Amino acid sequence: MFWRNIIKSFLNVNTLSSVFLPRNAILQTLAGVHNYLTILSLKNSPEGYYRKMPENLKKISVDLRIIGIVHSPYKTTKDAPFQGRNEVSEIEINKDYIDGLKDIEGFSHLHIFYWLHKSENYSLIVNTPWDTKPHGLFTTRSPHRANPIGYSVVELIEKKGNILKVKWLDAIEGTPVIDIKPYIKKLDSKPIAISGWAENANL
Ligand SMILES: C[S@@+](CC[C@H](N)C(=O)[O-])C[C@H]1O[C@@H](n2cnc3c(N)ncnc32)[C@H](O)[C@@H]1O
Repeated sequence: MFWRNIIKSFLNVNTLSSVFLPRNAILQTLAGVHNYLTILSLKNSPEGYYRKMPENLKKISVDLRIIGIVHSPYKTTKDAPFQGRNEVSEIEINKDYIDGLKDIEGFSHLHIFYWLHKSENYSLIVNTPWDTKPHGLFTTRSPHRANPIGYSVVELIEKKGNILKVKWLDAIEGTPVIDIKPYIKKLDSKPIAISGWAENANL
């Protein structure tokens, strides 16, 4: 923007471009120089280095397919625990996705991804129930997020047709389920993990 304005104020870009160079090529080159200089200055700043995200990549529109719905003992967000408890919920899989459940009985645990549809405004700094200090949103499991995706590792108790009976799910009644993945011990278990501020929290 800065360079674009400078060139516009020194040159009549419309006339110039029609004769010599495509206008967009000039502006793109200047934008590239501007980005390069911005990155260069950030590289040496105390805040460190980052790439500037292209404007058109800051938001994408997606149609999420709801593969199932949670039936839960927790009817409202106030009823639900902060993380899942040893209580049974059911996930009712939409009939269009039933074939995708093939072989699921072989897994004792699953990753469940759901859309926290009652989530409200989010903040990048949040307070958690686990301690008294504020933390960055991305270091917490707050349900209020830029993209309110919820995630739980659940224990699969039983599959009956299109119903999965599970334990340890904190989602409320009616929560849309957007994906299920198998919990694979060899891939997902990280015994050496360090949990930052939550390391010693009484979760
Ligand atoms: C702290 S969040 C953790 C969610 C998930 N286990 C995670 O780590 O992404 C759990 C809380 O989300 C809230 N919640 C559950 N289902 C929700 C929904 N469909 N929409 C918005 N909030 C929901 C409840 O208040 C529950 O206590």
